[in-house]
This record gives sequence, structure tokens and C-alpha cells, in this order.
Amino acid sequence: MFAPGTVDIRPMTKADLESVLAIEQASFSRPWRYEHFLHEQSSPHSFPLVAVIEGAVGGYVCLMSLFEEAQILNIVVAPHLRGRGIARALLEHAAAIAREKHAEIMTLEVRASNRDAIALYERFGFFRTGIRPKYYEDAEDALLMEKSLQGDR
Ligand SMILES: CC(C)(COP(=O)(O)OP(=O)(O)OC[C@H]1O[C@@H](n2cnc3c(N)ncnc32)[C@H](O)[C@@H]1OP(=O)(O)O)[C@@H](O)C(=O)NCCC(=O)NCCS
Repeated sequence: MFAPGTVDIRPMTKADLESVLAIEQASFSRPWRYEHFLHEQSSPHSFPLVAVIEGAVGGYVCLMSLFEEAQILNIVVAPHLRGRGIARALLEHAAAIAREKHAEIMTLEVRASNRDAIALYERFGFFRTGIRPKYYEDAEDALLMEKSLQGDR
């Protein structure tokens, strides 16, 4: 775990994209491209955040918040920094922004085989609401998950 205050969470900027893409490419077989992240930075409903550890980007989350629903589009931590509470800190910031925007629930989709991510989300209070069979390009199912933002302010 990092001591409180040693992880700085702030909005993602264009200057972060080289580091973000390196983490993305190390984490996924079908990584998001530069344009995806650039789009997140310019959309009025998107709130991409980075976690900065000792001056370097160590993880990020992309949140989209529209009316009562906020969606976690992705959350990634650099492989060598996992297991130290960085994703949890990113989710806490994302949830705080979603509440500011008056969202009532946070939702997400996750690959059914992604045990690390499902464990993170369940630990954070998400519960399973459904399944989208063969949702991904390689025909893997998506789990749908949701967390209420009411009552835990
Ligand atoms: C999923 C991911 C973001 C977790 O990041 P992380 O910084 O290691 O997670 P944290 O250290 O904040 O863990 C928070 C909680 O999640 C759970 N968790 C996270 N990783 C876990 C793992 N490998 N095994 C079991 N539980 C895990 C734990 O319950 C943990 O709580 P605890 O420490 O109080 O027990 C990271 O593994 C990752 O980047 N994976 C690849 C990208 C990905 O699949 N993203 C999700 C889909 S977009």
C-alpha cells in the first residue's frame, strides 16, 4: 500500500498519453489507441484521470457521466504497481466526480474471465446485474456490474 498522499490523482492530459499508452499496451491484447484517449479528454461527459506515483503515471481510469448513470470505461494500473491500492484510489475519485455530476449509479462491463478486475469491483461495492453473451470480439461474455452512489456519501 502507498501511504496516504503519495498517490496524486488528477485529470489526464495530452502530455500523459505516452505513459498511458505504454501501460495500456502492456495490459491488453486489444489496447485502446491514442485517439480513444484523446477523445475522452475532449468529451464534455468524460472524466479521464491518472494516478501519479513518484512523478510518473502509474494508472488511469476513464469515467463517463451522463444524467443519472456514470460508467467506468476502463481502469488500468501498471503491472509492477498492482496490489497497492491504486485502482481503489482511482475508483474513489471517479465515484466522487460521478456524485458531483449527480449520477445515482455507476455501471461497467467486464470480461467474464477477468478475475482481478471482478475482485476489485466487488470489493468496491459493485454487484452483478447481468451478462452479455459473446459480447467481445473474441466471443467472450461480458458481465454487467452496478454500484449505487446513493447512501454512501
Ligand atoms: C484490475 C486492476 C486495475 C486492479 O488494480 P490494483 O491497483 O492492483 O488494485 P488495488 O490494489 O487497488 O486492489 C483493490 C482491491 O481489488 C481486489 N483485487 C485487485 N487485484 C486483485 C487480484 N489480483 N486478486 C484478487 N483481488 C484483487 C482486492 O480485493 C483489493 O482490495 P484489498 O487490497 O483491500 O484486498 C489491475 O489488476 C489491472 O490493471 N489489470 C489489467 C487491466 C484490467 O483488466 N482492467 C479492468 C478492465 S478495464
